[in-house]
Amino acid sequence: MTSLASTTTTVSSGACRLVILVSGRGSNMQAIVRAIESRGLAAQVVAVVSDKPAAAGLDWARQQGLETCALEPGAYVNREAYDQALAQTVQAYSPDYVLLAGFMRILSDAFVHQFSGRLVNIHPSLLPSFPGLKTHENALKTGVQWHGCTVHFVTPELDNGPIIGQAAVPVLATDTPQSLAERVLVVEHRLYADVVEWLADGRVSLQDDGRVAVTDLPTRACVLASNDADAADVTLIKA
Ligand code: GRF
Repeated sequence: MTSLASTTTTVSSGACRLVILVSGRGSNMQAIVRAIESRGLAAQVVAVVSDKPAAAGLDWARQQGLETCALEPGAYVNREAYDQALAQTVQAYSPDYVLLAGFMRILSDAFVHQFSGRLVNIHPSLLPSFPGLKTHENALKTGVQWHGCTVHFVTPELDNGPIIGQAAVPVLATDTPQSLAERVLVVEHRLYADVVEWLADGRVSLQDDGRVAVTDLPTRACVLASNDADAADVTLIKA
């Protein structure tokens, strides 16, 4: 694993500039946009970028009056050329952070290095368990009793960067991959919004040992307090 440089982020002037990358429905992006508004976070989504021109998330963003941009991989000779164009597009918005929110492409090392320490992803499992696809199905097959999601800095190794926060839900005996995914999605929305708040406040730092610290936060663990998939039931554990 390539380690990220040790950094402390300070958002000195103005709102923290976020570029969000989506490939599909964009519910995490929506949760972030709504949290910025409802909680008055010091953050601003300066663009939503997609590899799929027809992505529902892109449509939603457009309707909110957000700047959007679609870059189709088919228009480029190879992955490197695509990622180079993507990097140029993203960089043009001068982001403080680039948030992957259901962006379903593996990014090249060059892209990851360019945005090192500023590139954040949400993955629907409690990493390092279940990297890659079909996480809910694999969790059920394995018989784990807790499942969840992880927000982490991105490194070239897939789903393996320093963990910023995690949120867990109990696995129910009656769960299907679909029902488990729905329950995890509730905490994804809550966790990603919380992480954006910490990033915007300049409280997230990457330590020399490669781990993340968040100022004034004894834990970055969330649990779903009941089986009712109601966002109001998502509580942050206080250590
Ligand atoms: C989420 O489960 C996210 O963790 C995963 O892909 C899904 C995207 O959902 N990477 P959405 O587009 O945010 O609704």
